[in-house]
Formats: sequence, C-alpha cells, structure tokens
Amino acid sequence: MNTSSDNSTGLIRSLIEYIDEQSFLAGHGSKIVFGSILAVFGITAYIQSEKYSKYKKSKRISTSSSSAYKESTAKLNKSRKYGHWIPDYEFHTPVPPAYKDWDLKKTKPLPYRAFRHKYAVNMGIRNMEWDNWIELDNEWEKFHNHKVERIEEKGTELYGTAPEAMEAAYELLDEFWQYLPNRYPSLFKQTEYGLDNLLTGEVHKFKLGFRTEDDPMKIAAKMVQDDLAIMIEDEEGTYYLKGGAIILAGFWRLKDKFNMPLSMIHTSGDVPKYKEKLKTGMEKFFIRQTCDKPVVRNNYFIQTDDNLPWSTSIGSEDKPDVGWYTAQPATTAEQLFFRSERQSLRRLPKTGAIIFTIRTYFLPITQLAEEPYVPRRLLNGMSTWDDDVQEYKGWDKYKDAIVPYLEMKALEQEARGLTAESVPDKYPY
Ligand code: HEM
Repeated sequence: MNTSSDNSTGLIRSLIEYIDEQSFLAGHGSKIVFGSILAVFGITAYIQSEKYSKYKKSKRISTSSSSAYKESTAKLNKSRKYGHWIPDYEFHTPVPPAYKDWDLKKTKPLPYRAFRHKYAVNMGIRNMEWDNWIELDNEWEKFHNHKVERIEEKGTELYGTAPEAMEAAYELLDEFWQYLPNRYPSLFKQTEYGLDNLLTGEVHKFKLGFRTEDDPMKIAAKMVQDDLAIMIEDEEGTYYLKGGAIILAGFWRLKDKFNMPLSMIHTSGDVPKYKEKLKTGMEKFFIRQTCDKPVVRNNYFIQTDDNLPWSTSIGSEDKPDVGWYTAQPATTAEQLFFRSERQSLRRLPKTGAIIFTIRTYFLPITQLAEEPYVPRRLLNGMSTWDDDVQEYKGWDKYKDAIVPYLEMKALEQEARGLTAESVPDKYPY
C-alpha cells in the first residue's frame, strides 16, 4: 500500500534522476552538480517542514472538518489509484460529548418514521452529525442478548472478516474505543487493552499488543445495537463486502452476500429499480466519499411476525431459498410490525474502508398507528408503491390486514382534527 512518505521519497528520487540526466545532457559539469545538490537539499528541507507541520496538526483533535484536512491527503486520495488508499493521519474523528441524560433503562429508541405521502426510490442520503454515529438506547440489552445467543448458535455464519478487511476491522474497533466511552460513559470504559462493558462485565481486548484470536467483527458486534459491514475497494474502484457482523438483519444473510460487489449485493436481492435509479449514483458515491463526510439513510418494511433477528414468516433462516412467496398472508393488524433501518456510511481514514452500519428499529403497527398523522401518511406512502416495490416488500401478504386498519385509524384521527393541513412544521422523520 502507498503511503505519503513513500510518495515524498519517490519524488526526491525522481528529481535526483531528472537533475542527473539534465546535467549529463548539458555537460555543464560541477556547477550543475553543485546546483542540483542544493536543489535536492532545498526540496528535502521543504518536505520535512511540511511533514512537521502536518505532524503538529495531527496532534490536535479536530472538532470539525478542517480546511487543512481538505487540502492535503484528501486531495491526494481524490486522484488515488483505485484500491490504493493513502492513509490519512491528519483526519481524526471528532470526539463526541456524552449523550445528554442517556440512561440504559430510560432512553427511548428514536422515532424514525421514514415514510412520506409519496414513495420514491432514490439514495435518500443525508449528512450525518458525528455525535450521532452510533445510537444506543433502552433496547441495548435486548439487542445484545439476541446477538450473544445467535452468535453462540450460528457462529461464523453471522460474522466474519476477510484478510483484506482485517486492518479495517481493527480500525473500526479503534474508532469505537474513542467514540463509545465518550458518548455512553455509563456503559463503556476505555482501557489500555480495549473497552470494558460496565453492564455486562464483558472485557473487550483489541488494542494493538492485546489482540486475541477473536474475530474483530464479532467483538464490534457485541458493543452496539447495529449490524456492521466493511466495504473494500478493489483496483477497478468496485466495493466488496469483505467484513461484517450481520446478526439482526431480518431479511438477508451475511453468508449469501459475503465477498459480493455492491451491485450484486443489490441485484441478487432484486432491489427495485436498482439499475435504473441507484447503481450509478451509489458507485460514484462510494468512490468519492471522503473521511469527513459521513451520511445516513433510513428505510422501512412491514414484517408479518415479531422476530427481530430473522423474519420467520419468509421461511427458515436455514433454508437455501427464502422469500415473501413462502409467507402466509397476515389477517390481523396485530400480526404486523414496522421495521425501519437507520444506516450510516463513513470512510475510515487509515485503511480507506467504508463502514456501513445498520440499526433496526422495530415496533408493532398497532403502536405506530397511535402516533399523530402516521396512519394516513403510511397508508398514502404504501399506496404509491410501484408493482416492483410491492413485490419486493411483500405487499400481497399483508395488504388486506393493513389497509383497512390504517384507514380506520386515519379516519379516527382526522375526526379529531389531525388532518394533512394541520401537520406541524417539524415532524420527527
Ligand atoms: C449509498 C448506499 C446504499 C444505498 C443507497 C442502498 C440502497 C438500498 C435499497 C434502496 C435497498 C432496498 C431496501 C431499502 O429500501 O432500503 C437496499 C437493500 C439492501 N442493501 Fe443497500 N444500499 C446502500 C448500501 C449498501 C451497502 C454498503 C450494503 C452492504 C452490505 C448494502 C446491502 C443491502 C442489502 C443486503 C439489501 C437487501 C437486499 C435483499 O433484499 O437481498 N447496501 N439497499
């Protein structure tokens, strides 16, 4: 892998060769040789002073994306040879403040309601605030217990790290080492060997010099509620799923997608309009994403059973083929659950890997429909799904249960004056 110091040495070497060649051709003897030596010394001194000022900057913890960062390694990486990321030692993820009044028992999951009156297929990415990279709440214990149980039961079907993602996986853990105890100090304690979990007593060892045989993605999975994926760029600029802990994904399995490129991950799952509306934008986005510009996106699904880790109604997790076509139609609203993911994407500075986090929010439709304005908006949103979206999201298997129910709840709310015209300006989408 290239490094910036390799680049500087290479530059000096080429200059010496160039000057040697010029002096030989011009035949100007010792004057030119002396001039050349001076020039080389001058350039070396300049590079050293640049390196020193970069080093000085790297000692400061940045709290936002600094202009120095944008102009240096980021610029070099813009024109990198694909698959050869130049480690960015200048970029430091901003250290978050402690989450205000965060309480493992009391802090509720955030109410993402990522549906609009009209459904549209698009990337739907927004800038992410660094402080909110990983969201933990009073469901942490439930998620953690599911994860621990499932890892016991299914082991490496659920997590894994290819050799080419190993460095990135440890870099992710180093990022957690900084982020988690600062953001959630009542749950994590930073140690010289890694992190201690103050609730479960788990001791996570992963810092250099303290690493164990444990897969780094398995260690990472036990800290957060999210599923995690590592995408690595190859020499054509294609991104591959090379590491992951996909433990509570509901509808897809790591073992089916491991080592796949981004496009095949999506086409193999028949993601609607992927080729027409998503592929080009996504591939460009992955190549261009810089370390200082993390993003998030949200989605939603309806599930016809209440199993967070794996939606059993689409078939057993252990069967080769699963899908909506095997599901029994739901007949009551009580059978229906709202499943919504908050996904984040960020590039790690040292390895250049892209980290994809997937946090699931899961609640009964009957609970969701009590929220003001929600039943009408969700109903309208789903009614504008195209045929391919309907098929992908299993519409036929629950439409007869959900449509009359949401219509009834919407009418009830509208009779109380909660109409489209009275929607408040700020709604927690
Ligand atoms: C800008 C980034 C991305 C965009 C815009 C995107 C978009 C989508 C969309 C639109 C879907 C259909 C479900 C939904 O509405 O969310 C989907 C499904 C999926 N995406 Fe992505 N995605 C992105 C990144 C990734 C990454 C990095 C992975 C790597 C693991 C991934 C894995 C999947 C999987 C496994 C599915 C389900 C496919 C199936 O049903 O088999 N996505 N994605």
